[in-house]
Order: sequence, then C-alpha cells, then structure tokens
Amino acid sequence: MGFYANVIIPILFDKVMDIEPINQARREYLKEVSGKVLEIGFGTGLNLAFYPENIEKIITLDTNTGLDRKAKKRIEESRIEVDNRILNAETLPFENDEFDSVVSAMTLCSIKNIDSALREVHRVLKPGGKFFFMDHGISSEPKIRKWQKFWNPVQKIIGDGCHLTREIRELIETSGLKMDSFRNYYMDEVPKTHGFIYQGIAIKK
Ligand SMILES: C[S@@+](CC[C@H](N)C(=O)[O-])C[C@H]1O[C@@H](n2cnc3c(N)ncnc32)[C@H](O)[C@@H]1O
Repeated sequence: MGFYANVIIPILFDKVMDIEPINQARREYLKEVSGKVLEIGFGTGLNLAFYPENIEKIITLDTNTGLDRKAKKRIEESRIEVDNRILNAETLPFENDEFDSVVSAMTLCSIKNIDSALREVHRVLKPGGKFFFMDHGISSEPKIRKWQKFWNPVQKIIGDGCHLTREIRELIETSGLKMDSFRNYYMDEVPKTHGFIYQGIAIKK
C-alpha cells in the first residue's frame, strides 16, 4: 500500500466522511441494527457513535492499515466492544448464516470486486438477517449521470478506488438480497455527482 493510500487517504476520509449530512444518514440508517453485527469498510470508525444502545459488540473490517490506526482512538473511546480486523470484504473468513446484521457506509462504491463482496454479505447473513447500507452511486438524472461518467476516472484515483457510477441498488439485489426499505436522495452540502445516496435495508430471505 502506497503513501497516498496509507497516509493521505486516512486524513482525507476522516475529514470528508465526518460532515453533518453523512452523520444524519448514519443516525437514520443504523437505528434498527441488532444482534451479532459485522461492519465492512470500517474506515476510521465514524459509524461507531451512531449504533443503537443495545449493541454491545461488533466485528469490523477494512483493508487499509492507515485507516485502522485512526480507528483505534474511536474504538478506545467507544462503549461498544470492537473486534477490528484487517480483512478484504471480498472473501470473508466467517461461517454461513453467522450474522444478524451486516453494515456498510460509503464502502460499496470502493470495493474492487463488489459482486464478490455482496455475495459474501449474503452468505454470512442468517436467513432473515439484514444488510444496512448507505452509499453514493449513479444518479437518476441523465445530466448528472453524464458528469459522473466524466469524473469517474479521476474519482477512482483521488478516492482510492471510489466509483461515482455504481448502480448500488441493482448490485445489492443481484446478490440475492431483497430490498425491505429503500430511498434515493441527494445529500445536502455535497455536489450532485458525489451525493446521490442509496440508503436502506435489504434482507436475506
Ligand atoms: C469512503 S471510506 C468509508 C469509511 C467508513 N465506512 C465511513 O463511513 O467513514 C471506504 C472504505 O472502504 C474500505 N474498503 C475498500 N475496499 C475494501 C475491501 N475490499 N474490503 C474492506 N474494506 C474496503 C476503504 O479502505 C475505506 O475505509
């Protein structure tokens, strides 16, 4: 992992992911998380403060060791016991049907082999288990889509693999998960190319 990904990205993500509109979304979409929880793409741990009171322990993972260093402080300060691991979400070392909830924030945009990661999410969820997601992706407006396609190659470089053009809902449904609640919206304070949000809960039947 190079200097940019290991040193600059953690500083950048810790700032840009900690803005009020994103935190408002975290507050909303994490409300119903329960049971045994796995969070993929933990980053610097910004979701931690927004888990419901009843969550006492979670397993988290990320591939970036630089982000992991920054997450440590949040983990130490949290009331939740966190088992934080350096792992790739594309291949999970967990049993089938192990988790009640899997959580992801602004991560489905970045995972290289997203189909594989979502198949893994489906595999490790118990039947009836829920995938809680909040991400940005391709807009429903043709004009914005055009700009997203234009900026995508640059975004992939500066955002460490982040895509602006993913059809997040379609990708989740292709994995076999069924949408239980869902909404698209533009996030306040974020350019439309980067702030078309896919947020909801998908269930393993
Ligand atoms: C934009 S950050 C979001 C971090 C955090 N979820 C948040 O909301 O602040 C995307 C995260 O996905 C992680 N990531 C990308 N590919 C991954 C993979 N294959 N497995 C696990 N994490 C991955 C990155 O290292 C980064 O921490």
